[in-house]
Amino acid sequence: MTDLPIYPLTKEHKMLRDAARDFAQNEIAPIAAALDESGEFPHTTIKKMGELGFMGIEIPEEYGGSAMDTLAFVLALEEICKVDASHGVIMSVNSSLYCQGILKFGTEEQKKKFVTPIASGKSIGAYALSESQSGSDAGTMKSRAVRDGDSYVLNGRKVWITSGPVADYFVVFMVTNPEKKQKGISAFLVEGNAKGLVRGKKEPKLGIRASATCELSFEDCRVPVEHRIGEEGEGFKIAMTILDAGRIGIATQALGIAEAAYEAARQYAGQREAFGQPIGAFQGTGFKIADMKTRIEASRLLIYNAAIARENSKKTGERYSLEASMAKLFASETAMFVTHQSVQIHGGMGYSKELPVERYFRDAKITEIYEGTSEIQRLVISRSELGIK
Ligand code: CAA
Repeated sequence: MTDLPIYPLTKEHKMLRDAARDFAQNEIAPIAAALDESGEFPHTTIKKMGELGFMGIEIPEEYGGSAMDTLAFVLALEEICKVDASHGVIMSVNSSLYCQGILKFGTEEQKKKFVTPIASGKSIGAYALSESQSGSDAGTMKSRAVRDGDSYVLNGRKVWITSGPVADYFVVFMVTNPEKKQKGISAFLVEGNAKGLVRGKKEPKLGIRASATCELSFEDCRVPVEHRIGEEGEGFKIAMTILDAGRIGIATQALGIAEAAYEAARQYAGQREAFGQPIGAFQGTGFKIADMKTRIEASRLLIYNAAIARENSKKTGERYSLEASMAKLFASETAMFVTHQSVQIHGGMGYSKELPVERYFRDAKITEIYEGTSEIQRLVISRSELGIK
């Protein structure tokens, strides 16, 4: 891929991108299919990614990161996701859903204690917002945190927690004042070994099978007051602010999956012959290739644009929800479109586990669901455009 002239990359961007590409191709590609088959969590490669600095790209140096910009994060994540979307989501959730709320709203002590081990890849972080009856309508959660002296007592259940089975730390959202609805939600940092935190069984999934997902139950789980992030009642705003960053990560995951599926289809269309010519020479296939490529490049532009909007937001404090939602919406639907077309171009081989194309197809679907469904992204975009609150 040539660098697009409107987004000139720095030398550091290119070095990071190349390092992520080398790592993904040398260390992840040989194990990706087996991990998808077994559903095993990739502890070793995730640890190595931490050692190489991929887990702390946007994290300030004082907390062990490299203090690079969001575009750098996107470039590295894209390379990882081109090879394996499971490694990609672990990296994305760690860096954005888990770290960004602490970095923006947390105290100095919280940043030191809860971000530093994540930046180095020694520990894994997760984000617990959804409940069985409150997914898209996140403000209707029921889990309760009740203040008791110097601590809060947490009770309730959270679902679909990416990295839940293995995480060392969690950012958790609970109701502290039910009368205030969304303004009665607060955010907490919970350690993985906290008494009263019970992890459910690992969910069997269609795709991203090497990433681990589970339910969490909080049964009189006591958390010190100093582990509350921000003020009481600020939790919903914190959750939403974090999701804006997270959505850029998931958009990038979708871009990586789409690029891998596209490249496989492009090569196959040039090699496979039918009726005396490469199938790419038939307009039915050639036009698919054209649409796939165009949508991928459009996704990339939306993602880079969102990354730059997020970078600006670090200085101005302005929201970039619109840019993040447009990037996630378009990139995730592109990933579904491209992987679907790639399977079709490959015919029977696209359906076979001999090639990774069917894995890309299965991995793509989740990008339209988690960190806000496509319907939620359309809601955010249309509300923003129409000025509806
Ligand atoms: N940044 C900052 N503040 C925000 C915000 C944002 N992005 N979005 C909303 N807010 C603020 C609003 O300004 C408002 O504050 P005021 O009342 O002070 O003005 C408040 O939050 C309420 O906002 P809304 O009225 O817009 O709230 P709503 O109930 O209508 O919901 C929503 C908005 C966009 C639908 C939101 O509920 C949403 O994003 N839902 C989807 C949740 C989601 O993505 N879940 C995925 C969970 S994570 C996951 O997938 C698992 C994993 O591990 C990967």
